[in-house]
Amino acid sequence: MKVKFEIKKIKDVRAEAVTSVIFEENVESKFHWLNTLFKGSLDVMIKSKDFKGAYNETVLNYINSDSKSSRLLTAGAGKSKEITLEKLRLLYAKAAKKLNELKLKSAGFELPDLTLIKGTLNCPVYDIVQAITEGVFLSQYKFNKYLAKDDYYPLEEIIFFTDSPKFVKEINEAFKNSRIICDGTLLARDLGNEPSNSLTPAKFADFVKKSSSKANYNVTIYDEKKIKQLNMGGVIGVSQGSDNPPRFLILHYFGSTKSEKPYVLIGKGVTFDSGGISLKPGPGMETMKMDMCGAAAVVGAFEAVSRIKLKLNLIGLIPIVENMPSGKAMKPGDIIRSFSGISIEVANTDAEGRLILADALDYAAHYKPKAVIDAATLTGAAVITFGHNVAGVMGNDENLIKKIFNAGEKSSERVWELPLYKEYEKLMESDVADIKNIGAPRQAGTIMGGIFLKKFVNENYPWAHLDIAGTAMVGTEISDYIPKNATGFGVRLFVETLKELAH
Ligand code: BES
Ligand code: MN
Ligand code: ZN
Repeated sequence: MKVKFEIKKIKDVRAEAVTSVIFEENVESKFHWLNTLFKGSLDVMIKSKDFKGAYNETVLNYINSDSKSSRLLTAGAGKSKEITLEKLRLLYAKAAKKLNELKLKSAGFELPDLTLIKGTLNCPVYDIVQAITEGVFLSQYKFNKYLAKDDYYPLEEIIFFTDSPKFVKEINEAFKNSRIICDGTLLARDLGNEPSNSLTPAKFADFVKKSSSKANYNVTIYDEKKIKQLNMGGVIGVSQGSDNPPRFLILHYFGSTKSEKPYVLIGKGVTFDSGGISLKPGPGMETMKMDMCGAAAVVGAFEAVSRIKLKLNLIGLIPIVENMPSGKAMKPGDIIRSFSGISIEVANTDAEGRLILADALDYAAHYKPKAVIDAATLTGAAVITFGHNVAGVMGNDENLIKKIFNAGEKSSERVWELPLYKEYEKLMESDVADIKNIGAPRQAGTIMGGIFLKKFVNENYPWAHLDIAGTAMVGTEISDYIPKNATGFGVRLFVETLKELAH
């Protein structure tokens, strides 16, 4: 997809359609201005008074003048004092999708009055442009690589424009970076949607290796032999039932001096979660090809952070496995030992994500990290608790959680904190091992995931755990920019959080 930013009058933008976003209070003056520019093309439309500028209202007009575009899509933005970044994201996404319906290839999108919005939102122009970019780009995604024929027509050329030369430097910077972050999100969607027969742990590792060489980070890949040498008992235990051997990926990005301590991102990578011997029920099992969305979010974030060149050091840890039943598989009641030596009674082989994350959390301690954040499609209970719009966050550091919360509000990849009170730990006690991998049935399932992980967190580093089971994989379209299946949730949240942490 080609993108440009131009300082031009709307009639000089060469595209199959141009879009203008109009606030309710400006409808009359704006239409008057447009109609003059378009030599009366909007006469009938204006007389009808159909368009009120209410939020989400759209009208398609045809232009009969010397304009470079013959279509004008007007989109209502509601009252300017009620605008939010998320409303902008959604509105631009909606407009872009309207143009998809017309099967157009090129489109111009006018930036709204930035001075006006900046005042209401009390935020930099950068953030506004970022939200708009996200709305447009993220709306154009479809996972269609396996379809012989697809009646979906994404935009191929996008021109953002404004006739005001104000804020140009900031706008350009925002477009450049937001595009990169969107690409990271789309990459995470692609990885999430890829079926497990074509994305085994080994292939996931190969993909990241290739991808990293084009971006600006390095990756070290541990194979099964090395994982066994290191005694990563969680990764070994979960993967041993599968014919596809595990990998453990270490991603390195240096955007600051080598001596500066890194942040660490950890992603749950289960290329397919059958449940293992504690086999999942058949219906819906196919969605478990997306059980590596945490890992995908880490990769997407690395792609973005390394291209934007954030001034920080970053380590990514991705244990990636397939959870399968077989004669070699782990069985309920088995006792394994994590990388740190802590023994775990595996009461349920379907609680596998926490087992591989345990190894990664222990491994993270070696870096003496400034902070560790893990993302995992960890519990079905997170879907029950939060639905598909909010992710759970838990951890040992209020300051880190607050930063993640703020990043969530800004990006609209929102999180809400659940408590990790000491009292919960009792529920995970085992008679035969240091800890059990499940709590009591039907009690605080998402918190139990967090309580388990906390046991493997070195108290010396701030840590937060994101349960993205509800937000990263969804059964229906969430909005015009969040499609069904893998959403890429976490990439924008990670990047925004790191930006907050870095300054
Ligand atoms: N990958 C699943 C969690 C999940 C469920 C993600 C639904 C997305 C949608 C995870 O490995 C799992 O199976 N968790 C179990 C834990 C239980 C056995 C303690 C669950 O949630 O049922
Ligand atoms: Mn499972
Ligand atoms: Zn799982």
